[in-house]
Amino acid sequence: MRLNILFCASEMTPFAKTGGLADVAAALPKHLARLGHKVMVVLPRYYIIDKSKLTFVKGNIGVDMGPLGTLWAGAFKSEYEGIEVYFIDYERYFGRANLYTDDNGFSYPDNDQRFIFFSKAALELARSIGFVPDIVHANDWHTAAQPILLNTKLRSDPYFARTASVYTIHNLQHQGVFSKEAFAYLGIEAKHFNPLEMEALGALNLMKGAIYHADKITTVSKKYAQEIQTPEFGFGLDAHIKAHAYKLYGILNGVDYEEWNPATDPYIAQNYDVEDLSGKKVCKRDLQRIFGLEERQDIPLIGYVGRFAQQKGIELIAGALHDMAHLGVQMVFLGSGEKWAEGFFSDVASYYPNIGTYIGYSNELAHKIEAGSDLFLMPSIFEPCGLNQIYSLRYGTLPIVRAVGGLDDTIENFDPLTKSGDGFKFYDATKEALFGTVKWAVDTWMGDKEGVAAMIDTAMRQRFSWERSAKEYEKVYCDALEVL
Ligand code: ADP
Ligand code: GLC
Repeated sequence: MRLNILFCASEMTPFAKTGGLADVAAALPKHLARLGHKVMVVLPRYYIIDKSKLTFVKGNIGVDMGPLGTLWAGAFKSEYEGIEVYFIDYERYFGRANLYTDDNGFSYPDNDQRFIFFSKAALELARSIGFVPDIVHANDWHTAAQPILLNTKLRSDPYFARTASVYTIHNLQHQGVFSKEAFAYLGIEAKHFNPLEMEALGALNLMKGAIYHADKITTVSKKYAQEIQTPEFGFGLDAHIKAHAYKLYGILNGVDYEEWNPATDPYIAQNYDVEDLSGKKVCKRDLQRIFGLEERQDIPLIGYVGRFAQQKGIELIAGALHDMAHLGVQMVFLGSGEKWAEGFFSDVASYYPNIGTYIGYSNELAHKIEAGSDLFLMPSIFEPCGLNQIYSLRYGTLPIVRAVGGLDDTIENFDPLTKSGDGFKFYDATKEALFGTVKWAVDTWMGDKEGVAAMIDTAMRQRFSWERSAKEYEKVYCDALEVL
């Protein structure tokens, strides 16, 4: 069955990105289209997305924002790898330097208005261009208003009468919680503001509402789908998710191997593959040069790429860092985010000659770190899926991970007896457990050449394809249409 899919997200590679959601929003629609579906992606037209490169879409979209009245948005259009990508243009909400926060990392105070507006505008845009969606696929709290609207106000709207909603949780930590005044922007009956649906301690919780109202819910790994039903990972919504687990699916993200492949990667010093790893040594030397580290092949280089956020286990790294620095290794960190971490990782780089840090966002450097490192550090407190550990496998860079969420689902622990596995795992969220595992990985790298070679071979042959994931989503879409 050929489906019309309206896919809405707050970020998408290459237009606007802060994390993995952007990669998913690019890759999944592309692979759904390859399966024969018609996909329309909608994003906000942020200031960083250059209008002059987009096509203007004629007409205005009226968005009823309750007490704010009707706001009129414009729209632009572009094409990305065969997909039609639309952009909602509204200067007052999206003409800003960043996507979600000001330069100090504080959320914009009108994020409730911004993203409820965007969610509604995307649906109205579909109507205005005559795209009748079979499925609206919404992602994270930013577009959580869509499943809510489709199951309430729009149920009686003939245009959306045959439209089912699928809601993907990429990160349960950010739920879109706002004061109850924000409920009015949804423009739905007051009876829906109750603790079973979208009220949480007197506030509006958009993600809670989407979980209640969506026809199907998915999250980005099987393990995370289990974890979010427990208090440790549920961020207060575990009981609510458990109550809706009958419609919850875990679908692992794939990786875009056209972008992340050491044999073709244009950013790295020398290409290599599983048959001939000599280029990896060149990449290591290049990385050491970039970070001003001693050019040595005989000690392991540990890489880190990621947001400096509590989620990523940066407190654990900071706690274990001084011990790690004395293990006879080199370390490089690429990231930005929490200010204390930016300061900490810059400081340690200035007084340990074997540590290098780059504060900021650099796709090129991310590729160089994946290629030039021997080990990759990802000790997340929670990790819905995680992409960097999967990129690391492809580059023969052995991941050191905490066994949570997608990290647990994608990495197999090393077994020194059978030489099986492709990474190193630990369980407790403590700096001691992290340090112990880093030491184990370093000792293995130094002392068990045969084991390491076997792991690199296993790692580089793993494939987490989007084609497989897209087929699983296709199945969820069909199930959603059935329950409609
Ligand atoms: P999350 O979405 O939680 O941030 P993921 O592992 O799913 O984590 O995805 C993170 C993505 O963002 C990866 O593609 C990673 O390479 C990229 N990334 C994160 N921080 C940086 C950075 N400082 N520079 C370049 N790329 C980064
Ligand atoms: C989120 C998660 C990350 C996941 C990404 C894409 O940002 O933190 O684990 O890979 O979304 O689904």
